[in-house]
Amino acid sequence: MAQAPAPSTDVTAVAEEHATPAWARPDAKMDALIDDLMARMTLDEKIGQLTLLTSDWESTGPTMRDTYKQDIKSGRVGAIFNAYTAKYTTELQRVAVEETRLGIPLLFGYDVIHGHRTIFPISLGEAASWDMQAIEKSARVSAQEASAEGIHWTFSPMVDIARDARWGRISEGAGEDVYLGRKIAAARVHGYQGDDLRATDTVLATAKHFAAYGAAQAGRDYHTVDISERTLRDVYLPPFEAAVDAGVASFMTSFNEYDGVPASGSKYLLTDVLRDKWGFDGFVVTDYTSINEMVPHGYSKNLAQAGEQAINAGVDMDMQGAVYMENLANSVAEGRVDTATIDRAVRRILEAKYRLGLFEDPYRYADAEREKATLYKPEFLEAARDVARRSMVLLRNEGDVLPLAAAAKKIAVIGPLGDSKPDMIGSWAAGGDRQTRPVTILEGLRARAQSGTTVSYAKGASYDFSAAGSTDGFAEALALAGKSDIIIAAMGEKWDMTGEAASRTSLDLPGNQEALLERLVATGKPVVLVLLSGRPNSVEWASKNVPAILHAWYPGTQGGHAVADILFGDYNPSGKLPVTFPRTVGQVPIHYDMKNTGRPIELGAPGAKYVSRYLNTPNDPLYRFGYGLSYTDFAYSPVTLGSTSMGPRGSITASATVTNTGKRAGEEVVQLYVQDLVGSVTRPVQQLKGFEKILLQPGESRTVTFELHPDDLAFTRADMTHGWEPGEFRLWIAPSSGAQASTPVSFTLTE
Ligand code: NOJ
Repeated sequence: MAQAPAPSTDVTAVAEEHATPAWARPDAKMDALIDDLMARMTLDEKIGQLTLLTSDWESTGPTMRDTYKQDIKSGRVGAIFNAYTAKYTTELQRVAVEETRLGIPLLFGYDVIHGHRTIFPISLGEAASWDMQAIEKSARVSAQEASAEGIHWTFSPMVDIARDARWGRISEGAGEDVYLGRKIAAARVHGYQGDDLRATDTVLATAKHFAAYGAAQAGRDYHTVDISERTLRDVYLPPFEAAVDAGVASFMTSFNEYDGVPASGSKYLLTDVLRDKWGFDGFVVTDYTSINEMVPHGYSKNLAQAGEQAINAGVDMDMQGAVYMENLANSVAEGRVDTATIDRAVRRILEAKYRLGLFEDPYRYADAEREKATLYKPEFLEAARDVARRSMVLLRNEGDVLPLAAAAKKIAVIGPLGDSKPDMIGSWAAGGDRQTRPVTILEGLRARAQSGTTVSYAKGASYDFSAAGSTDGFAEALALAGKSDIIIAAMGEKWDMTGEAASRTSLDLPGNQEALLERLVATGKPVVLVLLSGRPNSVEWASKNVPAILHAWYPGTQGGHAVADILFGDYNPSGKLPVTFPRTVGQVPIHYDMKNTGRPIELGAPGAKYVSRYLNTPNDPLYRFGYGLSYTDFAYSPVTLGSTSMGPRGSITASATVTNTGKRAGEEVVQLYVQDLVGSVTRPVQQLKGFEKILLQPGESRTVTFELHPDDLAFTRADMTHGWEPGEFRLWIAPSSGAQASTPVSFTLTE
């Protein structure tokens, strides 16, 4: 192996390569206004700008506790979350603007994660579309609805790489892959923020949770993270960096520690990496009470010290913990926090308010007329349906059970998720109507079925953990199955079994669902399993015995229609898995870009002992990253390289021709994988380096060409510098991960 060339960047290098976003360009008028304001602010008023508090909730909508209104009035709160509707945000804004000494407007934040009122598929589902336009559109619609209700700022996108299906928050991100994760982070930031932060239909985006939250040990939420610095840089940080490049306006810290330091106290993450290396210009908010949590972490001896550690590390705004509010003034008085540090944080937050145009008109987002005209617009509902069908992944379709044949006149929908409105929209659908708006699978199929076709329903089983072993409901479901031509088994997890604080130690279908599924298959009737879930489930039995499986995630407000679009063949499924599906929880963590090890299983004869394998389970996953079927077939030609070597300033092209060999039009996600054979540190067996989603008519061919540059092959080298190394590479273009999906070709990167 030749020596690595000189480092292109290191973690302390200045962020020259990161372009300044349009909103962050120098603005003398803004500086003058903020200088003037800050000269008049007391220390307490400044600390107020660093404080974010939640409103309370009532079933009719958000209401504030009187004490919080009092805090707004006394200038002790600069931002509020969980308050929305034009009327309500206007009411609170009026207190801030008219009843405080300086009249500084409030900033309203909210968890607008996969839709605000019109709910789109959960984020992991959207990632399965591999469709950046669709993903950006979802964020755009979310911003339009949220901003009309007075919201300025969303706590999204969540860009945490997640490789452990036990972790419930895997549902909130873009899956396991760095490359796909970067693209999706950028698409979401663009969707929320548009080109202009001042536009009243855009909102500030937040890249969260910084950093490495997805690496929680044993998949238990909030648990310790203990990963190498190299893994941090090569796997967990890149989507955050992509968000900075896309111009994201804020960052949220994570609950976990990194290398023994809780993220909200990590100067390394918040200053060295985020500010000094990446040149981030926006503001940093903590996750909920995560400054306070530095005490139980054992990092701070009391809240006062936690606050000092947080602000000195680079946290600008304290979410909900009131640690800054209660302690910072004293810390300044006693010399443990500099006034300049406070001023810098205050300035960042005032800048955000200025850039939104709030100093000109604090009420410009909350607009009752716009709110009325915007929420649940037909075009938004149509977009949600379209993104939902694009996100679904066809995992199996033996004997072309799908799309449903016209002869299937009696359709049975069976399972706890077949007619459940609350489950359709998944977790983190905070502003979403869970009870009335969502279209269930039963409703969607009924709306689409032709006259003469009946669609009947029996719940049959339960996803409650406590239902395991029970056969309640089976008889009714089996009776219905017996009278039907085809069974749609709608099974999976309850909506709140993923999301925050929703980790599991099993990935099996909860309750007695699988037992019923086995009985349904035993009837001999064709069965289609429609899975609703926010994580990969270990459905190994189903993968061998149920003829068709469609993963529908939690598809959102229009989910039932989207499922019907696919089952009836009005839309040809095009989703691909953004995350590996293990056979069993025992394989976790499992991801497509693992290392080869010194004893790869392929080196041994089948069943050989001293190779890296399990005694009782294959190493292979149930379904690979990038996998997903269509109602048509695609053939891939061998790969052609533009040249077999590239130099330091060169590039290389790789092409393959993809042909739709079936009878229906269909979309295919064409994927480029690369393996760096030898490095100064060991390299993954494959890494996604490009993809393109193309639509092909029956018989149509298209040549897809990818261009690679040396920087695309960069990683954290042995000396911890970031850059590429010369050597041999393998590359393949394929319908999914796994070198066996296509024949690799080789090329050389020269010094
Ligand atoms: C805690 C969650 O971790 C975070 O993702 C969310 O944005 C905040 N709570 C605010 O609700």
